[in-house]
Amino acid sequence: MNKKIAVVVGSTRKNSLSQSLANNLVSLLPEGYDAKFIKIDNLPLYNQDYDSEDTPEQYETFRDQLRDIDAVIFVTPEHNRSYPAALKNALDIGSRPYGQSVWNGKPALVVSQSTGNLSGFSANHHLRQTLTFLNMPTLQQPEAYIAHTDKLIDEHGKINNEGTVKFLQSIIDAFVELIERYGVTLTPKATF
Ligand SMILES: Cc1cc2nc3c(=O)[nH]c(=O)nc-3n(C[C@H](O)[C@H](O)[C@H](O)COP(=O)(O)O)c2cc1C
Repeated sequence: MNKKIAVVVGSTRKNSLSQSLANNLVSLLPEGYDAKFIKIDNLPLYNQDYDSEDTPEQYETFRDQLRDIDAVIFVTPEHNRSYPAALKNALDIGSRPYGQSVWNGKPALVVSQSTGNLSGFSANHHLRQTLTFLNMPTLQQPEAYIAHTDKLIDEHGKINNEGTVKFLQSIIDAFVELIERYGVTLTPKATF
């Protein structure tokens, strides 16, 4: 059976560079791996009250989409030296109700990008901190910080640089190896 890879993009804006980068990344997945883009821009702001009452329909749909996923790719820009609030909101929604986190045990890949030199380094590491708590084994190497994405991605949304495509392929190959090593979703080791 094909492996299902959820792709969560940290930017919600039209013409997002992160979205274009994610499109390029998933085109490098090998046969037997299906990418499924999960939208986060329609999710009401998380409120713990919704765990027990008036749960927004969008929460249920979001969680259902992630339940039978084998692994998750996160592609994110940086907002004020962290990852965007919309992505944090999505992570919080998926992590609850208590004990029913849809993230638990799923291998993750973090790719950050920025139009500047720093390539979303802080966003990347803040996200890694959250994924540690969510018990998501995250690819360590190669690390994926992609700089100057506005110059790297052409008007058709394609990466115009062979070296970068090779680098992205090496990231995808390493991530696939990580997924294969873990097999299917880990048995939950922690309850949260
Ligand atoms: C509110 C806001 C804060 C930002 N803060 C940072 C930042 O701290 N570091 C950085 O490198 N870029 C920062 N940027 C620039 C974006 O990360 C950059 O333009 C990115 O490529 C946009 O990605 P997107 O097209 O996927 O939305 C910021 C942009 C916005 C809108």
